[in-house]
Amino acid sequence: MTARILDGRVYAAKIKERVAREVQTLKSQYDIHPGLATVIVGEDEASKVYVAAKHKGCEELGICSEILRMPQSTSREELLARIESLNNNPRIHGILVQLPLPAHLAPETAELLNRIQPDKDVDGFHPVNVGRLGGGEERLVPCTPYGCIKMLEMADIPVGGKKAVILGRSNVIGKPMFHLLLARNATVTMCHAETADLAAVCRTADILVAAAGSPGFVTADMVKPGAVVIDAGINRVPGEKRIVGDVDFASVKEVAGCLTPVPGGVGTLTLAMLLYNTVRAAQLQHKIFL
Ligand code: GUN
Repeated sequence: MTARILDGRVYAAKIKERVAREVQTLKSQYDIHPGLATVIVGEDEASKVYVAAKHKGCEELGICSEILRMPQSTSREELLARIESLNNNPRIHGILVQLPLPAHLAPETAELLNRIQPDKDVDGFHPVNVGRLGGGEERLVPCTPYGCIKMLEMADIPVGGKKAVILGRSNVIGKPMFHLLLARNATVTMCHAETADLAAVCRTADILVAAAGSPGFVTADMVKPGAVVIDAGINRVPGEKRIVGDVDFASVKEVAGCLTPVPGGVGTLTLAMLLYNTVRAAQLQHKIFL
């Protein structure tokens, strides 16, 4: 069997079309112009590329985008003051502090992000939004897992009653993915570095989500024939610009029923969901539900 390849670009385009329509409605009917502020501290080269892509995505959809560049030497207090001023700025509906922060601020990442007003937290990382998701309320949800679940919906892949296995327990992908799948009535198993008989657990999955951060980790022998395999891994090949996923694409595509590629899979949905969250944040702040 050769897997059906789920092209993230097709689904991202559909989400963006919908978001663009909502932006136009907010502008024409309510005079609300959704705005995203992205704060980038320091000179991380990969972050600069990601931030530029976010800015371009906003411009394409008519979302106002501000990039706030802060020097590598920025202090905790300076960053907090910037976050506070964005919290109080009515033109800014979404705030994203690009990670990773420079080494001297990195240990305080959680504390700093927690100062973003929850309804402006378009990353969905604030404890209030984490708690809401755990409680079954999907208000502002982390972009990558949200993109994965939207893709499953758009690809007409049923989730209810299925056995889902998640590889990787990160706050950014694994844990929110757990709640999203559970809320849709999957039976969900969360695996991590100390899971016993990992390959055997993976082989029980109807839906396998790979977010382990390890290139080519999922091989064909770990996949049940016909399973849906979502590759949420983004691994930079050392010394190259190329990225590879957590799934060994060549072997797994011969076993899986559906498979997302890297690049061109869930990564493209992450940006679309950031734009979606920005518009949702604007609606939340103005109590408008389109
Ligand atoms: N750096 C890489 N990915 C992300 C993301 O999704 N959000 C933030 N804030 N920083 C990132």
